[in-house]
Amino acid sequence: MQPGELDLTRHSVWLESETDFAGWRDAARRLALNEVRPEDISWHVAAGSDRPLSDLPNVPQGAQLVVPRDFIGHAETAFCHSDPGRFAFLYRLLWRLRTEPKLLAIASDPDIRRLETMEKAVRRDSHKMHAFVRFRKIGDGDEEHYVAWFEPDHYIVERNADFFVRRFTGMHWTILTPYASADWDGERLAIGPGAVKGDAPAQDDTEALWRTYFENIFNPARLKVKAMQKEMPKKYWRNLPEASLIPDLIAGADKAAIAMIARMPTAPAPHHAKIQARHWPKRQPAGLPEDDDAKTIAELREAAKGCRRCPLWRDATQTVFGEGPDGAKVIFVGEQPGDQEDLAGAPFVGPAGRVFDAILDDAGVDRQKVYVTNAVKHFKFEPRGKRRIHSKPNAGEVQACRWWLDREFGLIKPNLAVALGATAALSLLGKAIPVTKIRGQVIEREDGMRVFITIHPSFILRIRDRADKEAEQERFLDDMKQVKRLMAA
Ligand code: URA
Repeated sequence: MQPGELDLTRHSVWLESETDFAGWRDAARRLALNEVRPEDISWHVAAGSDRPLSDLPNVPQGAQLVVPRDFIGHAETAFCHSDPGRFAFLYRLLWRLRTEPKLLAIASDPDIRRLETMEKAVRRDSHKMHAFVRFRKIGDGDEEHYVAWFEPDHYIVERNADFFVRRFTGMHWTILTPYASADWDGERLAIGPGAVKGDAPAQDDTEALWRTYFENIFNPARLKVKAMQKEMPKKYWRNLPEASLIPDLIAGADKAAIAMIARMPTAPAPHHAKIQARHWPKRQPAGLPEDDDAKTIAELREAAKGCRRCPLWRDATQTVFGEGPDGAKVIFVGEQPGDQEDLAGAPFVGPAGRVFDAILDDAGVDRQKVYVTNAVKHFKFEPRGKRRIHSKPNAGEVQACRWWLDREFGLIKPNLAVALGATAALSLLGKAIPVTKIRGQVIEREDGMRVFITIHPSFILRIRDRADKEAEQERFLDDMKQVKRLMAA
């Protein structure tokens, strides 16, 4: 509807822009608190001075709208979808949530399915934007400025601008899209109007640099042609300087993978050698197992039985290797086997494993279809009477065992890794990160592997307070649902 046209619904809301979530939220709150039914509202967008005033009731005194905590996050994401019916749809959900507080957990409900589909589309589009925005240089010296043209499917510029600020903090850059632009001058981020493709430069001197960069980061060992073509739909190719290289790189991938594996370091880090020398100078066997030839996980598991890369093998019952299908899409990485895993020879079969299994099941993730392993493959413990008390592996042990983890990744070639806790994150990212602060986020490694960060399930086991425990279970369930969505993306 245009400003000035006749509207027969009882309330009309005029949002400032397609991404005016604050405007929607305020209007939705007022309307819901005044019991205004979804069918009595019409939602519109109009920018500029001729935007009509919304016809909104005041909030009745003392009234409060209670909705599940998660709803706002879901709504904010789905709000970026290009579906013009989203304002009304999200209001309808809000309306239902007042009397159906558990609605968000009912995956079979058509509205919830629609919400999930919208969120998934927005996340996928964001992922594409992170991967396929290509800046081209205009101007030199103080005038140096990088401009990119990108065509998102949804309204995702505002949502993703911070990602580019973090990544390209020191540059002056502008991303132009048909509906909005983001400009960063090194200090301030400004969101402006949309543009046309001709506003962005077509080519620049950095093109050659990009191609060299792409040739260097291209990881032949992780090549999955079908997945790559799915990830990089043709639509994006026309703006990618490196697209022309892809056919040749694919053709040479097998040879390049063999050469790359040959170049990989096989010796433990120097720091680790010092630990070995201090703890077990006499017990170190002459050679390490010949495991570079393993072609399957079964062969690798066999080789790992004789692992002597760090001293932990001495006191443990056995190596506890990863389990799951060779072609799994996702690898879950825990810390190290616990007491029961050490005896059983399988990961995540003890108390933490039971929590993990139950929540995976609730999230609809089939454990049989995923690969589950640990950053460290031997149980580290301190004896206390008859009990063996878990002891955290140190950075040297994590580094030593990374050798096996890298090979598990090399054989399985997942498209997602899930770090269960800080030790797994340290192993997967090579640095310590504050897990509780950044849980629920995906970090992309230099080799392109997406690493989803979450807590270790044993964290839930350690919480005493029942309400806190349940809240943490819910959060972990949300994380696992997100993992499920990421597996499909
Ligand atoms: N904790 C882990 O990190 N891994 C296991 O296998 C069991 C408990």
